Amino acid sequence: MLKGKTAIVTGGSRGIGAAVADKLASLGVNVAVIYAGNQAAADAVCAKCKAEHGVEAKSYPCNVASFAETKGVVAAIKADFGTVHILVNNAGITRDGLLAMMPERAWDAVLDTNLKGAFNMIRHCTGLFLRAKEGCIINISSVSGLMGNVGQCNYSASKAGLIGLTKSAAKELAPKGIRCNAIAPGFIRTDMTETLENGPLLSMIPLGRMGEAEEVAEAAAYLATAKYVTGETIRVDGGIAM
Ligand SMILES: NC(=O)c1ccc[n+]([C@@H]2O[C@H](COP(=O)([O-])OP(=O)(O)OC[C@H]3O[C@@H](n4cnc5c(N)ncnc54)[C@H](OP(=O)(O)O)[C@@H]3O)[C@@H](O)[C@H]2O)c1
Repeated sequence: MLKGKTAIVTGGSRGIGAAVADKLASLGVNVAVIYAGNQAAADAVCAKCKAEHGVEAKSYPCNVASFAETKGVVAAIKADFGTVHILVNNAGITRDGLLAMMPERAWDAVLDTNLKGAFNMIRHCTGLFLRAKEGCIINISSVSGLMGNVGQCNYSASKAGLIGLTKSAAKELAPKGIRCNAIAPGFIRTDMTETLENGPLLSMIPLGRMGEAEEVAEAAAYLATAKYVTGETIRVDGGIAM
């Protein structure tokens, strides 16, 4: 069903994005991996996709927060792959801190990367989707956007914003055959959460453990194939946000 399609995975060099790229490649999807600065890791993800799954894979440096850079990278990916069928907006950062002391730059960096980054990528891919009369957008939100979290006003605002973006884009683009969904992961074992591994948060997770990036990738693969699902946010969180 997905064989021969092309996906862009932002933040595909590490963690959840790397797992999503690998999972989609295992289903025969060619992958364009966008990264911020970690070229060696992005190239390693692409090399694995090619060697283990026989798909095309190429890495692209791009700051998703930049409207101009994202426009350029989508054009480059179109030139290399022909078109794009699936867009996974996964690139994200945290700059945690209490609201009363949060520097303006911490707010701006998180909103620009996590929320505007997704807008930028959707904005530049939508023309390709409209021409193809098909498209699938998957935004990686967070349970922090559903529940809020102390010390994460910037991050949870960006992730709640992604859910609003997902629903509006889903409504606007559904008549054109384009679906847009979100995934809200809970605490997933990646570089982003390495300091939380043995913290008190674990006791709040009904399933009693952190999640694995591959478990989020399973949900992305489902959404890539779920032809009658749009505007949905799927929690992959061990039950923490129920
Ligand atoms: N881990 C969790 O528990 C968890 C829970 C809920 C939601 N999420 C969300 O899931 C997504 C992935 O998280 P993760 O834990 O896998 O993160 P991670 O391991 O820290 O990896 C972040 C990825 O985003 C890329 N990136 C960061 N800023 C970027 C920018 N401005 N432009 C382009 N790429 C950029 C990084 O590229 P480089 O490698 O080049 O730096 C890297 O590939 C994020 O949106 C995060 O908010 C994570």
